[in-house]
Amino acid sequence: MRKIITLLIASVIFSLSVQAKEGMWIPILLEKYNMEEMQQMGFKLTAEDIYSVNQACMKDAVIIFGRGCTGELISDQGLIITNHHCGFDAIQKHSSIENDYLTEGFWAKDRSQELTNDNLSVTFLKRIEDVTGQVLRGVTDDMEGRTDTIQKNIDALIKKATEGTHYKANIKPFFHGNQYFLSVNEVYNDIRLVGAPPSAIGKFGGDTDNWMWPRHTGDFSLFRIYADKDNNPAAYSKDNVPYKPLKHFPISLKGVKEGDFTMVFGYPGTTEEYAPSYHLKMITEKVNPELIDIRTKKLDIIKKYQIKDPAVRIQYASKAASISNSWKRWIGEIKGLDKLNAIDKKENFETHFQRWANENSKQYANLLNEYRASYQTYGDYRLAYSYITEAIFRNGMEAVQTSRNFYQLKNAYKKDTLDLEQIKRIKTDLEKKLTSFYKDYHQPIDKEMTVTILSMFKERIDPQFHPEIYTRINKKYKGNISKFVDHLFAKTIFADPQASLSFAKNFSAKDIKKLEKDPAYILYHSFYDAYKLKILDNYNALSAKIEELNRKYMAAQMKFQPDTTFYPDANFTLRVSYGKVKGYAPKDGVIFKNHTTLNGIIEKDNPNIYDYRVPQKLKDLYEKKDFGQYESQGTVPVCFVATNHTTGGNSGSPVVNANGELIGINFDRAWEGVMSDLMFNPEQCRNITLDIRYVLFLIDKFAGASYLIDEMTLVK
Ligand code: ARG
Ligand code: ASP
Repeated sequence: MRKIITLLIASVIFSLSVQAKEGMWIPILLEKYNMEEMQQMGFKLTAEDIYSVNQACMKDAVIIFGRGCTGELISDQGLIITNHHCGFDAIQKHSSIENDYLTEGFWAKDRSQELTNDNLSVTFLKRIEDVTGQVLRGVTDDMEGRTDTIQKNIDALIKKATEGTHYKANIKPFFHGNQYFLSVNEVYNDIRLVGAPPSAIGKFGGDTDNWMWPRHTGDFSLFRIYADKDNNPAAYSKDNVPYKPLKHFPISLKGVKEGDFTMVFGYPGTTEEYAPSYHLKMITEKVNPELIDIRTKKLDIIKKYQIKDPAVRIQYASKAASISNSWKRWIGEIKGLDKLNAIDKKENFETHFQRWANENSKQYANLLNEYRASYQTYGDYRLAYSYITEAIFRNGMEAVQTSRNFYQLKNAYKKDTLDLEQIKRIKTDLEKKLTSFYKDYHQPIDKEMTVTILSMFKERIDPQFHPEIYTRINKKYKGNISKFVDHLFAKTIFADPQASLSFAKNFSAKDIKKLEKDPAYILYHSFYDAYKLKILDNYNALSAKIEELNRKYMAAQMKFQPDTTFYPDANFTLRVSYGKVKGYAPKDGVIFKNHTTLNGIIEKDNPNIYDYRVPQKLKDLYEKKDFGQYESQGTVPVCFVATNHTTGGNSGSPVVNANGELIGINFDRAWEGVMSDLMFNPEQCRNITLDIRYVLFLIDKFAGASYLIDEMTLVK
């Protein structure tokens, strides 16, 4: 009886998480787990239309774009669409003062004007396969060398899956290592930039509107895949021809309304839905509040100088955007989890789980205790690890970080016989790196950042993790960090572009000493040593321990709730999410509609606010109501929200309607729901989609590139 009650309570508690719309599902298992529900919700196609190895299907039109985004085919001539923020690097690399594509936008007038990109690839999935049995062959639960055995099995399977082909493959753990799936991929490398709107459209709203609804960002860019004459992947060549896809998405001009079925098909990166309460506590009470604080300070400093000088605003725009993106998400995540009482919910669940384990499954009875013990120390290490990353690896102390770039050069000169060719290469690379770094370097910002980072590290991080340098600062500068930094900036080579560049150019063996004596270099190494010697080993060991607990806890949860259909945490493999177009109530007294329009862009227009400057041409089109076939209710739809469960990596994903026609491009989530990476709340979690009609309107009317529209398959 007690057992039944326990199960009943557990299923009530967790009924939230098993709601229809939550989940990122594996394409080969749709028939088994989802198709009935999807069709009930309005979907008109079949599982085979989404994923099949026997016929061309939707998956043949979805790609990994670059390294961390999704994209999709929208013509039979290799045309692809993804987000502006996903194509941003490529667009920026082609931009210069003379051809400022970031500001002005870029539109190839014909194929010959498309721009080639080094280091940009797109990846097609050829097939997925459950290889759990083979990966876990000869593996037992607590055997020694477990990970090595698994790795060996994986290597062998990958070799077998790709032998004699040009395919690439990977095998990733699902359900935290309870299952393994093989993905076989085909990678194309000749990818050309076709078009991008000006940033005032593609990034409209900037960091102010980022992660927010209502939204008006025209977040898209267009590229084209090129192949050799046999349609196979090939390095760039002018003889390459547009790739002919097995499938491309038809595009619907019909739009969507409240309650309509939507599906997102792409590559969600990471979620942690099955973590214990200890994890949520660590994230929300210990680690992220600190990371939020340090980034708040970083952003304040940058902003202060940006307001004073428009040139600095441009220099630090991209850095500020990248600091701000996770910063803002973390803040929303804590709020969202709080509103959900997420920790209470988890603890409740754990109480019932524990009772069940004690009674029925002794092997799991100690899991939560082990978690508690591990998280006690893991939190400290994770905080120290993340803080060092903030200090010297990512948007931290810039001059200090830059000194690291001389490391390779130093090593080349330390060899017994000098390889002059190699040295020349290193120098050329280094000069390039330095030139592009100093183009966006503003010393006063860096100096203030350095003081702030060093002070905060000292204050906030447990002394056991402090780099040696603090002993020196205490001795030589009586603990006065500002004085130390004054001295550092007066002395170092790396806060000065000219000095730094000529140091690189003229570097020779005798300069090794000079480098090693540079205070920025010394500071970098002091932090790096602390990272290597005081943090990394334990951090990795604890992470591995927690991964092992995650594997067992996942299996245990599945046994505890045998009637629940679980979906695996995101792991940057191709997944299906489905839901409905739906507005929401972000707070008391407020209801958000499910879509925005061009009217809202005009409402936000403000020449005095950088994020809200609307290009004149867009205003003209609005005035003339020149909306063509993209018009709906007297305006152009811009973005809409729906209940699909998405995360980072889903950017650029196709959003399709019940007929599998493209209705938009996924690009963000609404702030009140960004805790969906840890716990989904169907009331508040919304993915934000760029309406395809706004995209087509911009291509056609704004850019005058209607030849691109002619390539597409429109459904009117
Ligand atoms: N929040 C979106 C995502 O996580 C868009 C990020 C790019 N935009 C920005 N303003 N930083 O990727
Ligand atoms: N903006 C994210 C991305 O770039 C999507 C998200 O986190 O919802 O993938």
